[in-house]
Amino acid sequence: MQRREFNQHLQRSAIALALSPWLTAPSAFAADKSRTWRTNPFALGVASGRPRADSVVLWTRVLFSEEDRAAADEALRVQVEVFADVGLKRRVQIAEVVTDGARGHSVHLHVRNLQPSTDYWYRFKQGDASSTVGHTRTAPALNADVRQLRIALSSCQHYEQGQFIAHAEIAKQPLDFVLFMGDYIYESTNPQYAIRKHNGEEPKTLAQYRERYEQYKRDPMLQAAHAAHPWVLMWDDHEVVNDYANDQDRQYTDPQQMLKRRAAAYQAYFEHQPVLLGPDADNPANMRLYDQLSWGKLADVWTLDCRQYRSAQACRDPVRGGGRMVVQCDELNDASRTMLGNTQERWLSDSLSQSKRHWKLVAQATQISSTSVSAPVGRSYWNDAWDGYPQARKRLLQTVVDAKLQNVVTLGGDVHCNVAANLRLEPNNLQSPIVASEFVTTSITSRGLGDKPSAVIRESNADLLHYRADERGYSLITVTPQEVRCDFRTTKFPAGSEAGLKTQASYVVKNGKAGPQAI
Ligand SMILES: [Fe+2]
Repeated sequence: MQRREFNQHLQRSAIALALSPWLTAPSAFAADKSRTWRTNPFALGVASGRPRADSVVLWTRVLFSEEDRAAADEALRVQVEVFADVGLKRRVQIAEVVTDGARGHSVHLHVRNLQPSTDYWYRFKQGDASSTVGHTRTAPALNADVRQLRIALSSCQHYEQGQFIAHAEIAKQPLDFVLFMGDYIYESTNPQYAIRKHNGEEPKTLAQYRERYEQYKRDPMLQAAHAAHPWVLMWDDHEVVNDYANDQDRQYTDPQQMLKRRAAAYQAYFEHQPVLLGPDADNPANMRLYDQLSWGKLADVWTLDCRQYRSAQACRDPVRGGGRMVVQCDELNDASRTMLGNTQERWLSDSLSQSKRHWKLVAQATQISSTSVSAPVGRSYWNDAWDGYPQARKRLLQTVVDAKLQNVVTLGGDVHCNVAANLRLEPNNLQSPIVASEFVTTSITSRGLGDKPSAVIRESNADLLHYRADERGYSLITVTPQEVRCDFRTTKFPAGSEAGLKTQASYVVKNGKAGPQAI
């Protein structure tokens, strides 16, 4: 690329994004001299995300070890190269991103002008250091006839409760993208079944959240999955704190304090993920993550934010808020309560109603089908999932009915359980037609419910065709014009090598027929 072209390219993309408005511009650039690194500054690996027909977001974060710490306040220029071949012979783009300590020396580059359905390789350079090479792939053109879309569905990776062996297998699968449904980090420590330990205490500040991401991002299997495929990301609660709802946490912390913590968590999230937008410049406690992408004519995919805008859980315990089983809770019927917030809900409803693509994949953080059980004083509901927001659930499914949509499949995580379920306007009412299909993936490592409560839930909910909380892993979703197939890839305990993963069960949703079928 010619120097002038290079400069124009910088102005168009790299600098513009590096100086996104939520952070102040670095006051001085580091001199262009070559820096000698004592330790690898790219120790957290590389990542790509948000694939579109003509663009992707590339990510890394420059990390200063103790030996390099003296330079940690400096602004840095990081070079990014994009290649059309695995041998790195045909370089198609080069750019430079300026970063500094205010953004944790994270590097985001929104690479544009790419070709649809095309493989690319990329790497970062700073001084005498080069990152590992990542692979990414763009989405098909919007009007392309696409034969297949392959997704690895994953969520809930408590670092202490296992090795990320599911990611080692994901890294080797031929995929279009990884769809991560939330709980990328865990803020809390859980000594039960722990095979390794979190560093430091529960994060509350930006520095502490950064430290937690650093620990997770150093995991080689997680790094391999990021380097192998683009990721499409959503979050759930543990990226901030367990069971939070908007500005509420379980301890009833003052909402202003809670929003400060949320701002720190959201900034750290942005600094460590290949996402396009960071926290809102005017209000850093806000960050839009919900999004929609199209896969040729084959599928529309919505990725929702089920935490930032939701109403607090219904009938909370006055001492210990957050999720719990509730019975005789009139608040559940309050139609003003929302899982997505009014703006996101309207956006989804409009966008879903107008979708003309063959499959409509609605990815959200938790479980939509019911897991309610009978209690002596009435039916008992888990108030943190959609069972706790039944009116919002009904509105979502009513949209499907009103727009006469076929081929709606919802994807979820959070509950550490593999689920295949029918979705009806009236859950578990066999007279109520099945209007959509649900797959929920189990956790990468986080422990699930015991066998007894799982069995009770399974027996209490006719809509649950498959419900197993005893194994860890991920789910392979294969979308073709004829069907959406889900293979639950699992292991009893996630330690050792990925060779231990097997297929727990497989289900398909056939074109034009709502409801998963076992195969
Ligand atoms: Fe989780």
